[in-house]
Amino acid sequence: MLIKKEAEIPSSDITDKKLYLNRRAFLASAATVGAALAVGVGAKGLIAPKIHASAATKLQFKPGSFSTNEKQTPLNDVTHYNNYYEFSTDKEGPAELSKNFRSRPWTVKVEGACKKPQTFDIDSLLKNSLEERVYRMRCVEGWSMVIPWIGFPLSTILNQVEPTPKAKYVQFTSLNDPKQFPGQQRAVLDWPYVEGLRLDEAMNPLAILAVGLYGDVLPNQDGAPIRLVVPWKYGFKGIKAIVNIKLVDYQPTSTWTKSAPNEYGFYSNVNPNVDHPRWSQAHERRIGEFFKRPTLMFNGYGDQVASLYTGMDLKKNY
Ligand code: MTE
Repeated sequence: MLIKKEAEIPSSDITDKKLYLNRRAFLASAATVGAALAVGVGAKGLIAPKIHASAATKLQFKPGSFSTNEKQTPLNDVTHYNNYYEFSTDKEGPAELSKNFRSRPWTVKVEGACKKPQTFDIDSLLKNSLEERVYRMRCVEGWSMVIPWIGFPLSTILNQVEPTPKAKYVQFTSLNDPKQFPGQQRAVLDWPYVEGLRLDEAMNPLAILAVGLYGDVLPNQDGAPIRLVVPWKYGFKGIKAIVNIKLVDYQPTSTWTKSAPNEYGFYSNVNPNVDHPRWSQAHERRIGEFFKRPTLMFNGYGDQVASLYTGMDLKKNY
């Protein structure tokens, strides 16, 4: 994410990012060629992915619906190119800095406008019927990935607490713990990190709470032990390390909207026709690829979600 505050990413960021991405693309192709010539193995085997999982358990899951069969982004990139400001504003920082993050004990309180508020222990949530969803993920900064998430529909947990008619929106809050999160010792963002969805968006079957990826529990840097994944929206809506979910009757704010309201709106649907004030959103660079590709409306999930926005001006409701 790009914000214009001190201790923030300088204007050279875009150039740096391009260099990073080009370097990754170059290294990936070089590694593939090199490996094929030298020992005849794929590039994947060359880079041992470091995962800092807090619970050494393989998850039990079934293949789920809505998965893309596009090439998946290598695990090493999914775990070493992260936005997680509680740890670092640098994308390569969270992997190392989150090594000792404690994701147990952990509870998620679901409260607000509902008949049966409940506090769920993370290990009981892992017993929900878990699915693998391979989703395209588009970051507002212009890069994208394909990630095999493991999780369950957000609607599962919301239906369990029985929302009342007053519930119109859902507010999410991340853990607030400056002892564990070095980034929270600085006012880079307004802590704790918060996000929101309209209730019907939250109930859409595409919206999941992810507890794992690539067959294993979530690495700390990707939001262990539980995070939101809404693939038709820009990646920053995917709040990590969730501790509270509240059903409310007002449109909740989000950390990025608070930080730069003219740049990051409440909806933040992926939309190639609505530019960010500082750059176009028409194209994206898939991590590991050299050439850009066109960005798809709703990140290609229009069949599932376009009807949520019928009659809305998406330029105003960005
Ligand atoms: N959640 C919290 N709590 N803190 C963050 O800094 N960054 C967001 C989102 N969720 C963030 C967060 C942003 S900007 C993005 S792009 C995605 O997480 C990145 O997820 P990833 O690192 O797993 O790719």
